[in-house]
Amino acid sequence: MPEPDPTVTNILVAGGVGAPPLYFLAQQMRSKGNGDCRVAVVNGARTRSLLVAVKEFESLGIDLSCTTDDGSHGVQGLVIDRLRELLFEVNNRASVYSCGPTPMLKAVSKVCLEENIPCQLSVETLMPCGLGVCMACVVKIRDEFSPEGYVYKRSCQDGPVFTANVIIWD
Ligand code: FES
Repeated sequence: MPEPDPTVTNILVAGGVGAPPLYFLAQQMRSKGNGDCRVAVVNGARTRSLLVAVKEFESLGIDLSCTTDDGSHGVQGLVIDRLRELLFEVNNRASVYSCGPTPMLKAVSKVCLEENIPCQLSVETLMPCGLGVCMACVVKIRDEFSPEGYVYKRSCQDGPVFTANVIIWD
């Protein structure tokens, strides 16, 4: 990951089991040397029992918002609604990082592309071999030099983090 930009708010959007990787990212952003880095986390799940790493995020002393579909913890609603609010609050001066289910990543990507906000997504594809052999984990990536305008990249080898502006969602 490139060094976080200390002049913007880094918004981490987590869904379900996408939370632990973003906890480590938040920890890194708040670590010594990056202590002034502004970090806001939006952590969502369908219900309270499926929310992951809440205590861990709280231990970092960062701006944490939890959302649940059924309102059993935090605000009832979707992470995308809180993301929109946060972007409005910081006047779009933000970088976004997201990990979670594909429909959520698509929604995060759409908002960030509309608002022209840098966004990195950690995709959750199946990775049967993890060695770059089976091709079951490919993601369609824009490539202006390819005749088709895209190539397939293996998330196990070339990712799993891609920028929102290169992923083609089918
Ligand atoms: Fe097999 Fe990526 S998991 S190529």
